[in-house]
Amino acid sequence: MTGDQDSSAVVRDQYEAYPYPPRIPAKEAERRIIRGSPSPLDELNHYVFGGRRDFRQPFRALVAGCGTGDAAIMLGYELQASGCPAEVVCIDLSNAALGIVERRAKTRGLRNLRLHRASLLELDGLSLRGFDYIDCCGVLHHLDDPPAGLAALRRALAPGGGIGLMVYAPLGRAGVYEVQALLRLTGEGLSLDQRIDLALLTLDALPDGHPFKTNKGITDHHLLGHAGIVDLLLHARDRAYLVPELVALVRGAGLAISGFIEPARYQPVRYVSDPGLKARLSALAPEDAWAAAELISGTIKKHICYLVEPATLSSALARPDSPDVVPLLDVRDQAEFAGRLSRGSGLVLNYDGAKLRYPLPRGATALILAIDGRRSLAEIHAALGATAGPYERFKEAFDMLYTALNAGNMMFLRYPASRK
Ligand SMILES: C[S@@+](CC[C@H](N)C(=O)[O-])C[C@H]1O[C@@H](n2cnc3c(N)ncnc32)[C@H](O)[C@@H]1O
Repeated sequence: MTGDQDSSAVVRDQYEAYPYPPRIPAKEAERRIIRGSPSPLDELNHYVFGGRRDFRQPFRALVAGCGTGDAAIMLGYELQASGCPAEVVCIDLSNAALGIVERRAKTRGLRNLRLHRASLLELDGLSLRGFDYIDCCGVLHHLDDPPAGLAALRRALAPGGGIGLMVYAPLGRAGVYEVQALLRLTGEGLSLDQRIDLALLTLDALPDGHPFKTNKGITDHHLLGHAGIVDLLLHARDRAYLVPELVALVRGAGLAISGFIEPARYQPVRYVSDPGLKARLSALAPEDAWAAAELISGTIKKHICYLVEPATLSSALARPDSPDVVPLLDVRDQAEFAGRLSRGSGLVLNYDGAKLRYPLPRGATALILAIDGRRSLAEIHAALGATAGPYERFKEAFDMLYTALNAGNMMFLRYPASRK
């Protein structure tokens, strides 16, 4: 057995004992969908297919390292609800995790999931390929050789397909790696369950000034029970990527980043108000700007991004450049949201203490209320009537609204051909 197989077995055993995240299949009967990025259908259409994917056509997705199935269930549900002839292939090393996905899918009546116990490194050998979309969330950073993992995913893509990726980021995980290292020192020779007890005792003993204690963004150990403790603090293999390291990983696989979620977090000019500083940040090339945003923020704990082939990059990201485009709002309560915006002087996105400000156009409330997920910009303009003024003025207002709401991951675009 090679060292890699050996340590992969440790990772697998960990997720057999503590499938992640902990989920109760019977809860699917409550019909609530656990939504998250990457991979909501409108979001992936926006960042991978320029908003132009026709979901009436067959769609093949892979969830690589599906864990207990949050993305698989969300994607399977959204595709089934839209009537798309789709197949969502789910692979994972952990049988326990796959068992939970299977029971969740059954409870919810999903018919489009196919489950395989496999490593994503085995995709070639299993002839699992030709995927329009691959979700790989929280997995690559647990591999012995993440570049080999991303290369395997790329080979499994259909032409023009894309990947929704999440990997850890170090600055927002301040304290985590120190506690992991400490527990490796003190936990030598103990079973996993004994090390969980040790971790709990250790967390109680940490001084108030310890970076893990002052890091309010880390919550898994409070919210996810023993599975959360294991995943966060007792992981056999876990690394984090600064933006330049992520860019190198992605480029090494022959891919390109079409967008980050949430976009606002990666726009450094939004963190500062001094005009001179803004000007220097505005002058940065995109990859340096993303890196600068991570360094200014200091709190990004994971990078969520969409990857496409460089040749399709220019068309992968949807843009509001035609009156045909259909804006889609992703907020819980549209009327409440519109009302809240009408009382403020712009949109303020509050991310881990950073307040990122976006101006809004006059008439933003009426515009938001006119968006119904079906009407195009031209149709919304017509519906608003004389108050909206000529199309050019309306479009300027829409662009300002779009800049703000897309930055906060609350607005995507879809072109008519991809209507569900
Ligand atoms: C932190 S969990 C993330 C689960 C899920 N993607 C999510 O975001 O909720 C990591 C999962 O990746 C799986 N995994 C780790 N290495 C893998 C590999 N080489 N191939 C397939 N799955 C793997 C683990 O078994 C585990 O279920």
